[in-house]
Amino acid sequence: MRIDAQSGGSIGDARVDCIVVTHFEGDSLSSSAAAVDAALGGVLTAMIERKEIKGSLAETTSIQTLGRLPASRVIVAGLGKRTRFTPEALRRAAGASAKGLRKAAVASAAFELPAVDGSSAPELARAVVEGLLLATYSFNLYFSSERPALRLEHVTLIAPDGTSIDAGIRLGEVMAAGTNYARDLINEPPNVLNPAEMAKRAQSMAAEKGLTSEVFGPDELERRGMRAILAVGRGSANEPRLIALQYKGDPDGKHPTLGLVGKGITFDTGGISLKPGADMHLMKTDMGGAAVMLGAMHAIAELRPNVNVTMLVASAENMPDGTAYRPGDILRAMNGKTIEVQNTDAEGRLVLADALSYATELGLAPIVDAATLTGACSVALGPFYSGLFSNDDVTLERLVAASKTAGERLWPMPMDPDFRPMLDSSCADMRNVGGREGGAITAAMFLAEFVGEQPWAHLDIAPTAFADNESDYYAKGLGTGHPVRSLVQLALDIAAS
Ligand code: BES
Ligand code: MN
Ligand code: ZN
Repeated sequence: MRIDAQSGGSIGDARVDCIVVTHFEGDSLSSSAAAVDAALGGVLTAMIERKEIKGSLAETTSIQTLGRLPASRVIVAGLGKRTRFTPEALRRAAGASAKGLRKAAVASAAFELPAVDGSSAPELARAVVEGLLLATYSFNLYFSSERPALRLEHVTLIAPDGTSIDAGIRLGEVMAAGTNYARDLINEPPNVLNPAEMAKRAQSMAAEKGLTSEVFGPDELERRGMRAILAVGRGSANEPRLIALQYKGDPDGKHPTLGLVGKGITFDTGGISLKPGADMHLMKTDMGGAAVMLGAMHAIAELRPNVNVTMLVASAENMPDGTAYRPGDILRAMNGKTIEVQNTDAEGRLVLADALSYATELGLAPIVDAATLTGACSVALGPFYSGLFSNDDVTLERLVAASKTAGERLWPMPMDPDFRPMLDSSCADMRNVGGREGGAITAAMFLAEFVGEQPWAHLDIAPTAFADNESDYYAKGLGTGHPVRSLVQLALDIAAS
């Protein structure tokens, strides 16, 4: 999709197949929407009066123009209440519009940025571009018959006269490309995307974007004492990998190197503590944390912020087998701490134990990990929020701020020494499960054992990595790429600080 900018001019004059005007619930029509309304003989006013158009968030109404405007149709996109406006409302409205445009096989469209207080035109443009590009994502690699081509080829954003939104468009494009790259990885089946294949793709992306890369296989993992990753991968014919990518944007070392760490379980059967069969296929998404870190690096390499970033992905396949690790095994992680395995399905925290130990040894700060870590996090938060855990208030606040800018929902969760005894073991430094209560919190407390004093935050993305339902810019049954935008925003914010 080609997206360009037009500053000034009336959207009603745009020579495109469809024009999109926005409308706030309970507001009068914007001046350009009023002009469109006049050209159409007052149909918008009539529909608003009859409550056929309410302006509620991401409501879209399509109207034929019957030759009374250059465009053959108008979409009215609702933004909700003006007092509650954020760029995320616009992102969602743009996403819903794009789905409508695609369904109608429209090839070209114009979208007018709304007049609002508190957000700049480039910020609004960024949100619209993200909404358009995220909503029109599809994953067609494995359909044997040709899918109807996405026709929406060209969108013109109309900004107020004299404002440049080019930087906002570019930022939105890069954010969406990084997110869609992550989605492509999540959606790959586990017979294709095993740890070696993920490493291969990471390395070719790195080469393409000018990042340096390094991959450790079993021998190197053994040499470095990364025995927890090795244990988790032992039952699989597909050997584990630790994947490291580096972006250098701060040669003078003004800031410490940001560490991004991802859980890359390419399939999680539960191992010997086997999962039930229902929905087990969804455990192909258990590398969602790895995917979003790779997606973030994809975008960071394009944006070139003034900060160094090191990404580590711990990748393994968790399978039951005669060679698999067992409940009862005691493992020694890279940082020397010992772990009694009580459930081989709590494998994410084990591979992260080594990856976080390594991130800590490298002195990365802050360290941010993302992992589809616990079903308990979904029970606690529902499907729209990721859990945010941290040992450092500054890192926590930075992530909250970045997620607000990016329009992704992270929710702070408690970390407290009172939870630590729940991980006590009779024969090792800790066990890998904490009992039924507070399962997302005890998982985070487990991870904290491997970051020492480094500032660190953990994102439990089990609730959000995969979309069970269709929404404005997510597609049912596919990976979301959440929270790539927040991670990239964090890197941009650190670079600008
Ligand atoms: N990958 C799962 C968590 C998960 C579950 C992610 C559902 C997405 C959807 C993780 O490895 C796991 O199995 N966690 C266990 C932990 C338990 C054994 C302490 C869980 O959540 O049940
Ligand atoms: Mn598991
Ligand atoms: Zn898992």
